[in-house]
Amino acid sequence: MDAVQPWREKLAGYWDRAGQGPLRPTVAQALAAFAREGRATPLRVVDLGCGVGRDTLPLLAMGHTVHAIDREQAAIDRLRATCPPDDLPRLTTTVARFEDADWPEADLTVSSFALPFCPPERFAGLFTRIHARLAPGGRLACQLLGPRDDFAGQPGITIHTPAEVAALLAPFAVERLDEEETDTVTPRGRPKHWHLFHLVARRR
Ligand SMILES: C[S@@+](CC[C@H](N)C(=O)[O-])C[C@H]1O[C@@H](n2cnc3c(N)ncnc32)[C@H](O)[C@@H]1O
Repeated sequence: MDAVQPWREKLAGYWDRAGQGPLRPTVAQALAAFAREGRATPLRVVDLGCGVGRDTLPLLAMGHTVHAIDREQAAIDRLRATCPPDDLPRLTTTVARFEDADWPEADLTVSSFALPFCPPERFAGLFTRIHARLAPGGRLACQLLGPRDDFAGQPGITIHTPAEVAALLAPFAVERLDEEETDTVTPRGRPKHWHLFHLVARRR
């Protein structure tokens, strides 16, 4: 059996449970900020680690243009299969690891519950590209993981301390920086401690 198959099965389970639904609150907050600036018109959005479209599909439904990137072909296939035909012309997709990918200039970069899956040694380069590809005044809406998260210490997972989050956000005007710690139980009955940072930041 493929050694990564259990991980893929878990991911497919996640997509079934939570992969589609309402916009993440961080993304909704970023859109509201654009609207207050009178920029509710179609935005150029990049979704890094888009999954099966939790944010991409509602953004397309609002009329925005979305470039969606995910390393899993199955995610992109499900996203494209679910996308209403009227929205497809505004959706472009790439199957790639975001740390290896490049993308066009964006007004809004979304990465919900995905950036921590960038390996630590690649994170600085990825974040530099996220900043560089954002238009001035563009926004980033994402989550990062803190040191008390149960994922901390797992190979390939990037963790940030509060001070490291503050340093990352230095070139941005921070519009939301919520630190959350919460305990949940996975569908397989295992406890999971989350230590999350919910971010919305505007490129200066
Ligand atoms: C927890 S899911 C979140 C999906 C979606 N953003 C959402 O909010 O439902 C994480 C997604 O990131 C993708 N992913 C993980 N590591 C990645 C990487 N290095 N490059 C691109 N995509 C990645 C996974 O395939 C998965 O679809």
